[in-house]
This record gives sequence, structure tokens and C-alpha cells, in this order.
Amino acid sequence: MKLWGGRFEKKTDGLVDDFHSSITFDQRLYQQDISGSIAHATMLGRQGIIPQEDAEKIVAGLKEIMADVAAGKVQFELDAEDIHMNVEKLLIERIGDAGKRLHTGRSRNDQVALDCRMYVKDSAKEAAGFMRELCETLLSIASAHLETIMPGYTHLQRAQPVTLGHHMMAYFQMFTRDMQRMKEVYAHADVMPLGSGALAGTTYPLDREYAAQLLGFSAISANSLDGVSDRDFVCDYIYAASVCMMHLSRFCEELILWNTHEFRFVEMDDGYATGSSIMPQKKNPDVAELIRGKTGRVYGDLQGLLTTLKGLPLAYNKDMQEDKEALFDARDTLVKSLVVFNAMLASCTFRTENMERGAAGGFTNATDAADYLVKHGMPFRDAHAVIGRLVLHCVKENKAILDLSLEELKAFSDIFEEDVFEACSMQACVNLRDVPGGPAPARVKASIDAGAAWLAAFAI
Ligand code: ARG
Repeated sequence: MKLWGGRFEKKTDGLVDDFHSSITFDQRLYQQDISGSIAHATMLGRQGIIPQEDAEKIVAGLKEIMADVAAGKVQFELDAEDIHMNVEKLLIERIGDAGKRLHTGRSRNDQVALDCRMYVKDSAKEAAGFMRELCETLLSIASAHLETIMPGYTHLQRAQPVTLGHHMMAYFQMFTRDMQRMKEVYAHADVMPLGSGALAGTTYPLDREYAAQLLGFSAISANSLDGVSDRDFVCDYIYAASVCMMHLSRFCEELILWNTHEFRFVEMDDGYATGSSIMPQKKNPDVAELIRGKTGRVYGDLQGLLTTLKGLPLAYNKDMQEDKEALFDARDTLVKSLVVFNAMLASCTFRTENMERGAAGGFTNATDAADYLVKHGMPFRDAHAVIGRLVLHCVKENKAILDLSLEELKAFSDIFEEDVFEACSMQACVNLRDVPGGPAPARVKASIDAGAAWLAAFAI
């Protein structure tokens, strides 16, 4: 019989058991669920709401169940619906009547909210840990490539030279923001809902603060209706995961481009590429493509949950059971993507000679040529026009700016002197961009040092 079977005259239809049971996926919450129950029972005993001796039996029984589940010795039942009732049923089977006191002053509604909050806290911490590893890889690539010049792009057209170190540090900024977002997710989830009951609190003198303290929560929820119906923290996690996936996806897109024959900026390691069943020459960047593809799926998890929640009246509704698969899928996809991406990136070989060659073509020093004229007194807008004509000439002649002789340059402006060749070299273009946040090697070095210090100080 169901734990709630008293009011029913008929058994649940088999179709319904199959349809509404969540045990197939929420069994992953067993640790959170059992830890929550241990804290609840401990508090009930301490408050004298149940006999102390029963509380002790419950705690011992729950610990045993926890170990048995971890050892794979427990077979959960579809019939018992979800992880909460499966554990309670097992407890009663094992310790008898004392087990029937566990659910005093509690509902599955505050219980599941608690479990999800604990899971989100764990997952936010876990994600930040994998992001940290990726940030460390980025710092080490950046440190090795402070002077490796490559073209920077806008509109995917060569724009101005930067360095590979500078480029990597741009991603470092994104992933540290992702870490910070996970820290905020953790803080939002760090509110203990037990005591909200089904929706209206409880008549027992629960010590909510004590239960929160036992479970490592820093606050208790302020309203019982909100306590059971709030899933904002789940959306927060999936949103933070979505943004991180978007960052990974952009990075993957660049690696896919860089790995093409047309770019040849990077050689992916054989261990992270795959071949074609028909074309013998192929080495495809499938891992990067899959991460880019899976980004859509995490966005879907967020969109799905927001849509599920939008029409729900207070307080708990069964629709909310749909939060879990979205959360688990987002968590699994994010973690797998971060881990494989980090390994793939760390194994890439950068073809620095092609990057440098790419930077030297495509007029990436045109702004610097204009700046040269400006520094010798010409207004910028005039200088822009002069260099525009110069570039047009070069395009027609199929030459780079510095392929022209001084005499040819002087035909466009007699300001040009011999030192223009030095002033518009790729090295000068990078070194002279010596502003905080710029690509000059000393500035990138400073941002690496600041980044390493930030990582060392980061904690959830
Ligand atoms: N399995 C349910 C869920 O995940 C637990 C809460 C059920 N509460 C209820 N009143 N039916 O949401």
C-alpha cells in the first residue's frame, strides 16, 4: 500500500504509476534526501517532538540506508513514487514503528525543496571547481604566448594585431565571471525551507534554525508558501550553466575555424578529433562541435523550466517535479563539456607561425599607419582618409602597407619618414597598445598575475 493510501479505495492505475513516478531520475538525490531526514529527525528528537530514542533509531537506520544505496544494494520501487517515499518506506521496513515518526512536521513539498537546494549548492561548487581548472589552463597558455602575435578580428575580418596570450585572457575573463555567477547561485540556494510543511508551516515547535545549522545552510526561508514553491535557484543554476556553455561554444567555434585548412592556427590533438567513414583525409573537430551543439540543449533546459513555472499558482504543484530532469541534464552537460573542453584545449598545438603571418596580412596595421600621421600633426579624420586611399592602392597592387617604399608612401603623405616601417611593424602595433587591458605583453602579464591572484582568493 502507498504511504498515502488511507483515503483511497482503489489502487493507482499502472499507467499512472509509470507516468507520475520520479524515482527513475530523482534517486540521484538520495544523499541530499537522507542527510535532510537525518537533520530533521535529530531536530525532532532534540525538541521532544518525537521520543529521543526513536530519533536515534531513525538516524541509525537512515545511515545504514545511505551506505546500502551507495553500495548499490538497494532496489528502488516505481510503486513508491519518488526518492522521499522510497527512503521512508525502506526505513519503516527496517526499523519498524520508530520509522513512522520521521515525517512528523514535514511534507514532501518542503522536503523536495530542501533536496533540490542542497543539490544546487553542491553542483554550483562543483561547476566552479571545473571552471577553475579551465582558468588555470588558460593562464598557462597565456603565459607561454605573451609575444605570439596573431590577427584580432571584428566581423571575422582581420582588424588589428593582438597576441595569443591576450586572446586567451579574454576567455579567462569570461570563465571567471562564470565562477562568480556560480558563487551567486550557491548563495541563492543557501536558504533552508524545512518547516514550510506542505504550504502553511506546521503546528509542531520545530527549531528551523537548528536544522539549518545541521545542514550547513546560512538562512531559513521567510515564507512557507514561497518556501515550497520557489524554484528560482534551479533557474539560476541553469542560467549560469547556459552562459558558461555559451562561452564554451564561442571558444569551440573559434577552435573549429582555427583548425580549418584555411586558417591553420591550431592543430587539434588526434585524441580529440575523429575521422570520416568515407573520406580518408578527414580529421574532424567533433568534440568542439558537440559542445557547441549541446549548448542549445542547456538553453532548452532553462526555457523548459521557465515555461513550466510561469503558470503555476501558489504553492506546490506537481508540475514542479519537472524541474529535476532539466537541472540534472544541465548539470551533466555542463560538467562533461567543461572537462572534455579543458583536456582538448590543453592538448592543442598552436601554429604560431601561421598566426603571425595572418597578422601581417590584411592591413591589421592600417590604424597604426593613421596613428603615425596623427602623431605627426595630422587630424585623425584626415589621416583615416589618407590611409584609406593607401589601402585601396595596396589592395589593387596586392601588397601590404609595409611592402611599399618610402617614396611610394610619400605619394600619399609627405609626413611619412623612414621610421614608419618600425612604427607600423606588428611588434610595435602590439607593444604600443600599452593601456590597462590592452595587448602589450606587460599589460597581459599584469592581467595574468591579477587573474592568478583572483583564482587563489576565490572560494565558495
Ligand atoms: N516527487 C515530487 C517532486 O519532485 C515530490 C513532491 C511531491 N509532493 C506532492 N505533494 N505530490 O516534486
